[in-house]
Amino acid sequence: MRYPISFSPLLDSLSASKDHSAFSTECDVSCHRPRHKDCEIKATRVLSRPITRQEHIMTDPAEHLLDWLRDAHAMEQQAEQMLRAQSGRLEHYPELKARIDQHLEETLGQQKIVAECIERLGGSTSIVKDLTAKMMAFGQAAGGMTQTDEVVKGANMSYVFENLEIASYTSLIAAAERCGDAQTKAACERILPQEQAMAQWLLEHIPLITTQYLDRSAAGQEAKK
Ligand SMILES: [Fe+2]
Repeated sequence: MRYPISFSPLLDSLSASKDHSAFSTECDVSCHRPRHKDCEIKATRVLSRPITRQEHIMTDPAEHLLDWLRDAHAMEQQAEQMLRAQSGRLEHYPELKARIDQHLEETLGQQKIVAECIERLGGSTSIVKDLTAKMMAFGQAAGGMTQTDEVVKGANMSYVFENLEIASYTSLIAAAERCGDAQTKAACERILPQEQAMAQWLLEHIPLITTQYLDRSAAGQEAKK
């Protein structure tokens, strides 16, 4: 839906405004933090409606940290779905299947660790955002592929996904440090090596997976899974 006014003056005024002394009860755009009352007043005056999540300008580092933790939690839920789908389909690549199953177990532990961080900071894990939705689409594509070369494409996409996770936790560690949140920092530092190990394993094994696929295919055997 388009509104007859440009958002940019509104957004400029919101980002310029740093007076957080006046809060309403809670932001209804799902960040579960007190809404900046000044933003709400300006938004309501210009738009004649409550501000949306996208229009709500976050300035508090702790608010960003919580937001990114929720992204990470949704990312891990998507990772679980992707890994389960891949493991469930693989038949002729036992080493890959075993490594996926190992990382699935790790992923379930990561979900729990991230959820505990979110809850400790007063947030909720039930919120799905635009970025998360895009990530979910990616994960669903990677997990649900049924092309003739799905094992190769799946391994490649898993490598990409693991690197997204590595970037996310690297960012979260920096954010937690900036916020003085030692517990969240330690939690993310426990998760990060698991993602790095999985990415490294995939990178090292993609050549073997590829040649195994080509050999089976050339021999007229089922090769894709
Ligand atoms: Fe993960």
